[in-house]
Amino acid sequence: MYLTELKLNDFRNYENLVLNFSPGINIFYGENAQGKTNILEAVYMAATSKSHRTNFYREMIKKGAEFAHISLKIKGEYTDNRIDIHIGQNKRSIFVGQAPIRKLEELLGNLYLVMFSPEDLEIVKGGPAIRRRFIDIELSQMDPYYYHQLRRYHRLLKQRNALLKQSVKSYVDESELSVWDEELVRSGSEVIRYRRKFIKELGEIYQQKHYQISGGKEEIRLVYENNIDEDVFYDKLTARIKKDLQMGSTYYGPHKDDILFSLDDMDLRIYGSQGQCRTAALSLKLSEIEMIWQNKNTAPVLLLDDVLSELDDSRQRQLIETLKEIQVLITCTGVEDFLRQNLQADALFRVENGQVFKEGEKFNA
Ligand SMILES: Nc1ncnc2c1ncn2[C@@H]1O[C@H](COP(=O)(O)OP(=O)(O)OP(=O)(O)O)[C@@H](O)[C@H]1O
Ligand SMILES: [Mg+2]
Repeated sequence: MYLTELKLNDFRNYENLVLNFSPGINIFYGENAQGKTNILEAVYMAATSKSHRTNFYREMIKKGAEFAHISLKIKGEYTDNRIDIHIGQNKRSIFVGQAPIRKLEELLGNLYLVMFSPEDLEIVKGGPAIRRRFIDIELSQMDPYYYHQLRRYHRLLKQRNALLKQSVKSYVDESELSVWDEELVRSGSEVIRYRRKFIKELGEIYQQKHYQISGGKEEIRLVYENNIDEDVFYDKLTARIKKDLQMGSTYYGPHKDDILFSLDDMDLRIYGSQGQCRTAALSLKLSEIEMIWQNKNTAPVLLLDDVLSELDDSRQRQLIETLKEIQVLITCTGVEDFLRQNLQADALFRVENGQVFKEGEKFNA
């Protein structure tokens, strides 16, 4: 699938923007703070209804304006589609094919995206919450049912924790908790089951990809470090109730999961060098592209925000090899990076102070 047109009104530093993409490699270049990432953010919003860099809708509305609007046209394998997002100060509404949607599940799956930005380097080195977020975003876009169960789990967990905290101040009947616990375990077990399957499948692709990227030098493995197995979840949760009441929080459950990146049997989270973590994050994203492709029979769109310059020549080449058959939106400050790599751009855009100038099509950098 690929994007054909993006329209923005009062989004970030764009007042009115109409952009027509090429199905191949689209490069957006320009100096700092001109609006390159804003374009990728708008596309990301349309796919997920969330920004990759803020939780506050009002930040995305152009200063002085009241609403922002994103409209994105997509060409799928069989049908065309259009997604519209209206953003108000504190809420947003979403339209798919011009019809309003009631649940976010109806948006997911209309556009498969893989985004790679400098923050993604944190997936390997950062805290476990970042790795859980990675799994959750990827699994949700591939399977809205997962998103549904995850939401349900978090809602139940929040209620349970509120009750546990309340017990610190006043008496809470344990049987009141056990009513929630069955539901919590049911959704939590689905989350664990999906994550295990996802990491196994992704891990197999990942192992091959990384072997390739590192020039056959490194063996990497992904291991799902789940906090609890489904079959003992309920028993352990209920057996720990007194302790949970004391602590005012829930000890067992997928909200404590992690993924281990094991490189030649070394834990990258702890011992990885910067370069190793960067390569590991890159191969992870490339594996994701492959996995979506295999599972959904359509190529996802790749967004690359300012990452080429962070990679060495051979890794850039590996990445570019992967880009040949899919649509990519790339941002960078200069086009020199591409010159070095003999990269063929299909469309080149110069971004300057909230305006985008198309400088050529079938441009040979
Ligand atoms: N709500 C808003 N209203 C108006 N302008 C905004 C708003 N939010 C951000 N901007 C402006 O958008 C610009 C930043 O855009 P963006 O992050 O896309 O830059 P960039 O081209 O990716 O830069 P860099 O190369 O540094 O990453 C800044 O000039 C900022 O002031
Ligand atoms: Mg940027």
